[in-house]
Amino acid sequence: MFGVIIVIIARILLLFTPGLVRNSINIIDQYRRNLIIDQSIVENELIQNIFLILLAAVLSGFFTFLTRQTIINVSRYIEFDLKNEIYSQYQNLSLNFYKRNKTGDLMNRISEDVSRVRMYVGPAVMYSINTITLLIIVIFYMYRQSPELTFYTICPLPILSITIYKLSKLINQRSTIVQESLSKLSSYTQEFFTGIQIVKSYVIQDKTSKSFDVLSSENKMNQINLAKVQALFFPLMILLIGLSNLLVIYIGGKQYLDGTISDIGIIAEFIIYVNMLTWPVASIGWISSIIQQAEASQKRINEFLNERSEITNFNPNDTSNILGKITFNNVNYKYKETGIAATNNINFSIKSIDKLGITGGTGSGKSTLMNLLCRLYDIDNGEILIDNIPIKKINLNSLRKQIGYVPQDTFLFSDTIINNVKFGIENATKDEVIKACKTAAIHNEISNFEKGYDTILGERGINLSGGQKQRISIARALIKKPKILILDDCLSAMDTQTEELILKSLDSYTKNISTIIISHRISSIKSANNIIVLENGSIIQSGTHNQLISQNGYYKQLYNKQIIKKESIE
Ligand SMILES: Nc1ncnc2c1ncn2[C@@H]1O[C@H](COP(=O)(O)OP(=O)(O)O)[C@@H](O)[C@H]1O
Ligand SMILES: [Mg+2]
Repeated sequence: MFGVIIVIIARILLLFTPGLVRNSINIIDQYRRNLIIDQSIVENELIQNIFLILLAAVLSGFFTFLTRQTIINVSRYIEFDLKNEIYSQYQNLSLNFYKRNKTGDLMNRISEDVSRVRMYVGPAVMYSINTITLLIIVIFYMYRQSPELTFYTICPLPILSITIYKLSKLINQRSTIVQESLSKLSSYTQEFFTGIQIVKSYVIQDKTSKSFDVLSSENKMNQINLAKVQALFFPLMILLIGLSNLLVIYIGGKQYLDGTISDIGIIAEFIIYVNMLTWPVASIGWISSIIQQAEASQKRINEFLNERSEITNFNPNDTSNILGKITFNNVNYKYKETGIAATNNINFSIKSIDKLGITGGTGSGKSTLMNLLCRLYDIDNGEILIDNIPIKKINLNSLRKQIGYVPQDTFLFSDTIINNVKFGIENATKDEVIKACKTAAIHNEISNFEKGYDTILGERGINLSGGQKQRISIARALIKKPKILILDDCLSAMDTQTEELILKSLDSYTKNISTIIISHRISSIKSANNIIVLENGSIIQSGTHNQLISQNGYYKQLYNKQIIKKESIE
């Protein structure tokens, strides 16, 4: 509101100028026609006018500055709120949402779409007020001077407005295309950087360079197309302004000659009005196209803010602790996108503080089972119970907090080791971090780094070996003090000695919690209270190690193979 008032003040101040100019020209004209005799009166009048024009310009400039400050600040605050809202929505949405949407699109919502909405609340609002005040006041002033001339002067303006609207729309369309090709290009390069090791080792630089070339020339064409219409913008405006000026001079001149208007100064005054009006009138066209874009962006943002995560937290206020008894009853789950039934009629159960081993070929559904247990996906039918309570009735956040899940693919952030371990448990002490790292058998290696726990990983820092990453990721799960610990094939990149070391230290750590270990190595799971063997999403064998090696089947074969390997090494 404050902004609106200052825009109006700034405009009114600026409107003194044309009147003053008319005044000055008239005085000179009168002096020349000997209507005024004394030259010093003319000079004084002129100096006074110049001074007033300067004053009006400075004041108006000052108020315009204030307006921009307020309105643009407000729009930045709105942008800030909107970005935060979108970000927190991103964190809520399920994995399925992320599979459906491309990263590029998600990034666009938070940057492109938000900035379009900001353009609307900021510049568009400011220019609209500006234009409306100017139009009303200027046309009123002009009309008072000469109604007929006013009519001719403003005739070309609607044409200007419509042309600019059409042109802006075209520019926006083309710049959207440019944006799209730019984001394609950057996704491509990003992927290339991530996979640089593979690209180099497979010597496919030529091929990737060609693909890059294609994308990049596509982008170039789009940019050129955009530049073509952009280049039209100003010439067109100048042409139309010129037309209005010509009309004022021609018609105004004729009217002065035949005496319809009395002062020559009016013509000068009108020329200034025309030039004052052109930009606001052109901006009507421009604003309409911004508003259209903002509407489309706001719609996209709303669609997405209204999206509900398929995984609903039915019981967000529940704070009870879980003990760790896990039961799967006839659980089925099918991945919707691929139609793969990754989990078929799974039945098993473990008591709290028990240890469950899971093995089976790749793609047999082991990781899927664990994702279902953490409710990263909701099961299609059957039920999963924890402590005899269906997991949907447990507070989703407290469920996930009490499960320490070490996924198959480790992911570390480019941050210090200590922050990577603490991850999510901000108030963990250094001692706790060290303890978790000792249990995960990684403490000694970290201590040997120059900067120890403050070593930065990833992009700018050092890269760890697969096994080291896995152990940091285990430490990250341990520090949560989970009630259920899940190790999903996360000892695979380690040698058997390190594996044994971890398993031994974990044994005392997991005395009071439930543990699920997924592994291809018999040595990792043989001490479990119960072992299940999966194939194509179904359980094909289950029992203790001793029971399973006395049966013919997958487990015994696996065992024999690994025994032979071990003997041949020794
Ligand atoms: N996110 C996913 N979307 C679609 N299908 C998937 C997804 N994850 C796994 N699958 C499919 O489900 C099956 C089981 O996969 P997974 O549980 O990862 O097996 P495992 O962990 O035993 O190797 C596989 O056939 C795999 O192709
Ligand atoms: Mg897996």
